[in-house]
Amino acid sequence: MERVVIYGGTGGIGLATARMLRTRGYPLHLVARDAGRLEAAVAELGETGFTAGNVTDPNLFARVAEEAGDRLGGLVYAVGTINLAPLPKVTAETAIDDFRINALGAFLAVQSAARALKAGAGEAGAGVVLFSTVAVAQGFAHHASVAMAKGAVEGLALSLAAELAPKIRINVVAPSLTRTPLAEGITRNETLASGIAAMHALQRLGTAEDVAALASFLVSAEAAYMTGQIIGVDGGRSQLRTKG
Ligand SMILES: NC(=O)c1ccc[n+]([C@@H]2O[C@H](COP(=O)([O-])OP(=O)(O)OC[C@H]3O[C@@H](n4cnc5c(N)ncnc54)[C@H](OP(=O)(O)O)[C@@H]3O)[C@@H](O)[C@H]2O)c1
Repeated sequence: MERVVIYGGTGGIGLATARMLRTRGYPLHLVARDAGRLEAAVAELGETGFTAGNVTDPNLFARVAEEAGDRLGGLVYAVGTINLAPLPKVTAETAIDDFRINALGAFLAVQSAARALKAGAGEAGAGVVLFSTVAVAQGFAHHASVAMAKGAVEGLALSLAAELAPKIRINVVAPSLTRTPLAEGITRNETLASGIAAMHALQRLGTAEDVAALASFLVSAEAAYMTGQIIGVDGGRSQLRTKG
């Protein structure tokens, strides 16, 4: 099996995806800023390499391409932001940061890996997974900056899925609020968290494993006939209203 690169592989969803991909037998290469957490993940997972760096550094992507090897079976870009603010409080700097981390980073990650993904694509194609948010399919107040950046991720995924077919498959997972370190600013307030949970048809928030189950499936050969899809793992939030 060819190696899968996971940007954000020490995070809530990234590490859960890493564990599921190791269970499926994939060797991995993780990318994140904190080298200590990368070393701990590598020790736990086995058959895993890593590159420490920041996705806002344009030189990172060539370094990852060099260190991950010239044949890849897949790529997961699980780095993101949740900067929520009313319109007057959204600064241009925040919007640009959100775009760089969520969208431009995903673009540069795929661009720098494309040759290795083509080389490593078996019959099932190499699987790329990017992350959007439920706040693109549904308009949520105070989500302008993140919705703008994640909307760009969806457009990017569809364009590259067309351009890089048939060897590279690109799909997007769009979670609702998921209990990970990224969302802790919201979920640590249990009153707020249970209020938001109640807005979901399935009456709870997501877990990293809920989201990783789909991400690892989309990388794998079981998803060989899927590309260009944007799929919610959102407890029904994007599509369903149970009252009124
Ligand atoms: N959690 C949610 O509620 C939710 C909802 C919708 C969409 N999503 C999306 O799901 C994906 C995964 O999110 P998550 O909740 O698992 O986040 P998380 O737990 O905060 O994990 C983020 C991962 O990315 C790394 N990272 C963060 N900033 C980085 C940077 N500038 N450069 C390099 N690595 C960086 C982190 O490690 P270091 O800190 O060591 O760099 C960590 O490994 C993201 O795209 C997010 O937007 C999440």
